[in-house]
Amino acid sequence: MAKMTVLTGVKPTGQPHIGNYLGAIRPALKLAQDPSVETWLFIADYHTLTTAPDPKRMREMTYEVAATWLACGLDPAHTVFYRQSDIPEIMELNWILSCFTPKGLMNRAHAYKAKVQENQEQGKEDLDFGVNMGLYNYPILMSADILMFSAGKVPVGEDQIQHIEIARDIAQKFNRQYGEVLRLPSFVVQEKGKSIPGLDGRKMSKSYDNYIPLFEEPNKLKKLVARIKSDSLPPEAPKSTEGSIIFELYESFASAEQIAAMREKYAKGISWGVAKEELFHAMDAYLQGPREKYKALMADRSQIDQLLKAGAERAREKSVPFLKTIRKAMGIDA
Ligand code: TRP
Repeated sequence: MAKMTVLTGVKPTGQPHIGNYLGAIRPALKLAQDPSVETWLFIADYHTLTTAPDPKRMREMTYEVAATWLACGLDPAHTVFYRQSDIPEIMELNWILSCFTPKGLMNRAHAYKAKVQENQEQGKEDLDFGVNMGLYNYPILMSADILMFSAGKVPVGEDQIQHIEIARDIAQKFNRQYGEVLRLPSFVVQEKGKSIPGLDGRKMSKSYDNYIPLFEEPNKLKKLVARIKSDSLPPEAPKSTEGSIIFELYESFASAEQIAAMREKYAKGISWGVAKEELFHAMDAYLQGPREKYKALMADRSQIDQLLKAGAERAREKSVPFLKTIRKAMGIDA
């Protein structure tokens, strides 16, 4: 039986932090190990174009995101790993799908609505101020990404669920006219509810400036860990692991035995300084390998180029014939 295709896209957005890793990268890589699925992961560079980054930055961010996933353990022998812009069939399907997308559906897309609301709040006369057609049609391109490869499941963050529903709507509309050509995807929400705390205890985020970069050098990592918020309990006082940022992060990087030992130390009383020291060591030990690998990949980008090229070839083995099928169904097959 053919394996279920699990497909997801990541936008190149710059250096990842610990929150991105624990919340999205690590769970996706774990899922990729499931032998009953075939995983596809791609770099959604054309989606980033809606913000028109300068070419140098665009190129850099694309390498950064590719190197990040590879350094964290993505195995290109198992996962089909490619760049969206290397698959021209996606762009053709994008147009085709746009002809089956009611405009009203795009009016209701969250990202667009948020932009309109922002303009409203700022008293702008033009409610579409700052909205380009790429942003407006973003969900159509995302549908093309998914439907091109007949993905069965799409792991996404909660904010992306609506986009998968839109992909289903568009596919249904197409199929109603041309038969069961496009496969309707479903979504899987990644690790719901578990948000990773940042230095100040709020969700780790670049916008709060409370984040720890994933590949931070040890001396800087140590300084950042030292900045994690704690309370003023004296060293000997028993401490609660519940709600402790230090403990929560420790749990994500240490082994089961280390976690059990740390739990005991909390109960007996441990100074925050020592707890942070141990957290730093656990994080550093865990991240050292990926950090080295990341640096090596970024220093020799031809490796990344080769892997992405091979990934695109694999992807096009599917997209080229499938686009033909789609065109044929529509009577565009001269
Ligand atoms: N829109 C997604 C995000 O912002 C990225 C993305 C693009 C994607 N195409 C996709 C995710 C297809 C899943 C499937 O995170």
